[in-house]
Amino acid sequence: MTNPVRPRGTCRVCGGTVVQFLDLGRQPLSDRFRTGSETEPEYFFDLAVGTCESCTMVQLMHEVPRERMFHEDYPYYSSGSAVMQKHFADTARRLLETEATGPDPFVVEIGCNDGVMLRTVHEAGVRHLGFEPSGKVAAAARAAGLRVRGDFFEESTARAVRDSDGPADVIYAANTICHIPYLHSILRGVDALLAPDGVFVFEDPYLGDILAKTSFDQIYDEHFFLFSARSVRAMAASSGFELVDVERLPVHGGEVRYTLARAGARRPADRVAALIAEEDATGVTTLARLDRFATEVGRIRDDLRALLERLRAEGRRVAGYGATAKSATVTNLCGIGPDLVSCVYDTTPAKQGRLTPGTHIPVRPADEFADAEVDYALLFAWNHADEIMAKEQAFRQAGGAWIQYVPHVHVRK
Ligand code: SAM
Ligand code: TMP
Ligand code: ZN
Repeated sequence: MTNPVRPRGTCRVCGGTVVQFLDLGRQPLSDRFRTGSETEPEYFFDLAVGTCESCTMVQLMHEVPRERMFHEDYPYYSSGSAVMQKHFADTARRLLETEATGPDPFVVEIGCNDGVMLRTVHEAGVRHLGFEPSGKVAAAARAAGLRVRGDFFEESTARAVRDSDGPADVIYAANTICHIPYLHSILRGVDALLAPDGVFVFEDPYLGDILAKTSFDQIYDEHFFLFSARSVRAMAASSGFELVDVERLPVHGGEVRYTLARAGARRPADRVAALIAEEDATGVTTLARLDRFATEVGRIRDDLRALLERLRAEGRRVAGYGATAKSATVTNLCGIGPDLVSCVYDTTPAKQGRLTPGTHIPVRPADEFADAEVDYALLFAWNHADEIMAKEQAFRQAGGAWIQYVPHVHVRK
């Protein structure tokens, strides 16, 4: 059914019509943690998401300029999670074993951040290059001995590397391609830089998991696209590539690793058709399913707000755990400020001593959590739940309880 009042836009991939299914309101930059003394007005934008009627690509209705998000002080350091460090070391080893097998292989990463993946490639003595436009995280990678180009990957910068270094056997990206609205330039860049039989491998949050878990906090300025196998297959086919493999990953609340090769170069694994069939069976790319998701988001917003208000009325002390980019969406949508959540504990020095975007909750060092007098901890970093709960076992033993809002609002005592 077409709702005539739905806002519409133009698909960044195929030029088709994008119809909006969820409006998350005015939102700040999710990774812009202010100091207490900053006085200039905060940047806000309309966070709304829609789906393309033609190619099914789910995407934001409004784009935030990339320099506002990725700059000298970008505060997300990928090595902040031990689980993710292992994930990327394992990923690198597998790429080295399966793809970088020639006499002088060359591995390129888009969005290498602090070098969490390329470190293993470097240690194996394999030629590598990371693209990383955010200054301080790139400096951390360089300090680990890695070769990093401080540019956005796009057609022009990819061509420059092809000219200086020759073709890449593997171009890899994690949690980065979904950040990039200008996908055509990326794919032309991959086309220019990739060896004829090379692969472009990228992993990002998976629409199927986001719907199944109602993890609406995966939607924020940086996450421009929410990929599905169907939409990625269409995107690849429109630019001379083919989706030849998919692999579901448990990290970050559920992701898919997509492998693209030049059209006709490799036989697609059966897993590709199987995942698309599963998407069709569960209706992942239908407007009806996306509308149901939007309704579920409203329920979580109301339940979370009601729970926090009740705890405040009862005099309970509530803090947040993990000053994630995702939490900007949750706190700004639900109107959660320091009156409901006194502070957020986080291990990232670049976030500590600052205030959360839009809602201005103070961020405190995570090592203060053990001594803090907290009754309930709202787990914003729910995707790292096992790692965090293993570290913070004493909290529950002392009577503390965790609040989670994915897939629904619940308390874990
Ligand atoms: N790959 C790491 C991981 O999975 O943890 C980092 C992910 S982080 C969310 C996204 C990174 O992509 C940031 O460090 C950002 O600076 C970088 N980035 C954004 N646009 C980019 C582009 N066009 N080319 C290269 N890197 C980009
Ligand atoms: P992410 O969900 O985008 O990876 O962000 C996780 C945030 O949580 C990041 O700011 C680091 C923080 N964090 C902790 O404070 N303690 C932890 O044990 C982990 C794994 C992350
Ligand atoms: Zn489209």
